[in-house]
Amino acid sequence: MSSATGPGAAASGPRLPDFPWDSLAPHKATANAHPDGIVDLSVGTPVDPVPAKLQDALSAVAEVPGYPATHGTPALREAAVESLRRRYGITGLEPDAVLPTIGSKELVAWLPTLLGVRPGDVVAIPDLAYPTYEVGAKIAGAEVVRLAPGELPPAGTRLLWLNSPSNPTGRVLTADELGRMVRAAQDMGAVVASDECYLALGWDAEPVSVLHPSVGAARDGLLAVHSLSKSSNLAGYRAGFVTGGPALVARLLELRKHAGMIVPRPVQEAVTAALGDDEHVAAQRELYAARRAVLRPALESAGFTIEHSQAGLYLWSTRGEDAWATVEWLAQRGILAAPGTFYGPDGSRHVRIAMTATDERIATAAKRLGS
Ligand SMILES: Cc1ncc(COP(=O)(O)O)c(C=O)c1O
Repeated sequence: MSSATGPGAAASGPRLPDFPWDSLAPHKATANAHPDGIVDLSVGTPVDPVPAKLQDALSAVAEVPGYPATHGTPALREAAVESLRRRYGITGLEPDAVLPTIGSKELVAWLPTLLGVRPGDVVAIPDLAYPTYEVGAKIAGAEVVRLAPGELPPAGTRLLWLNSPSNPTGRVLTADELGRMVRAAQDMGAVVASDECYLALGWDAEPVSVLHPSVGAARDGLLAVHSLSKSSNLAGYRAGFVTGGPALVARLLELRKHAGMIVPRPVQEAVTAALGDDEHVAAQRELYAARRAVLRPALESAGFTIEHSQAGLYLWSTRGEDAWATVEWLAQRGILAAPGTFYGPDGSRHVRIAMTATDERIATAAKRLGS
């Protein structure tokens, strides 16, 4: 029996979209049947090992028994500020305005709720976007509005998500474009959260952080969300942080302390080590650059057009047909890709092809595309 007042009714919660990857199962079965095995390019999960020095940092504090600080260690916060300055030219950040997160997905999913976004409020997201922005808005009961590139957030927006470089398109916004969006949102009192997961992975464009001085954005109500999953291969450790406007970060810290949203101490140690070292980030970039150099021309020779994709870990590709037809065409060749519709209705003629596979699997995919 399903009734609003029946047993378990209080546990019904918000209506969420179906988990998109479940619908890929039949195509995965097709790709798996290839005699030389599947090349799975449907998800952006790292495949290269966690750098040894990060593993060492993790295990160095394995014996520490106490509760970790929600705010992270002072060393972590310092390391975050320093790395943002060194790697991306971000100045004027206070270590207190850094807050570690358990990967960035949980922050994306819970931010609207933590900000007090309510039913009737608008959460504005890119037209083609990482699915969790929509999920987070729905958990809070808010309305989602998808914005075409350059479109400003509508009245009623409480939270604007920016994502440059974009997942899935690899589009990079200029400092001017970022500044214009931030000002429009801030003029109506909205919080702006910039998801900068792929900032270290610019290929044909230099991505810029929303916190960079050239964007000219006021820090009040502004957040930059960082992940160590891609650039430091720490997806399995669940490692990220958020920074930006000190008052907003302090409010998030207070809520997260009460809610037990705490990064484990060994992970804090690994994050500190990762933020203090740029060599492993550069080495990982080289691996992805080499994979991109193999995969991109192979797709183009096979008749694909690749759009945007100036940065990040994906090739936003089309054969000028329905996305699912392309998914099936690739699956017949043992290659699994994600249909663009996973990221929004405007993705119906594209597929997202990830570069997160071993050199051997990428070379195999290229060979299959040529045959
Ligand atoms: C745009 C974007 N944001 C956030 C995430 C979440 O990353 P994590 O939770 O591993 O930090 C991803 C993961 O793919 C992503 O593509």
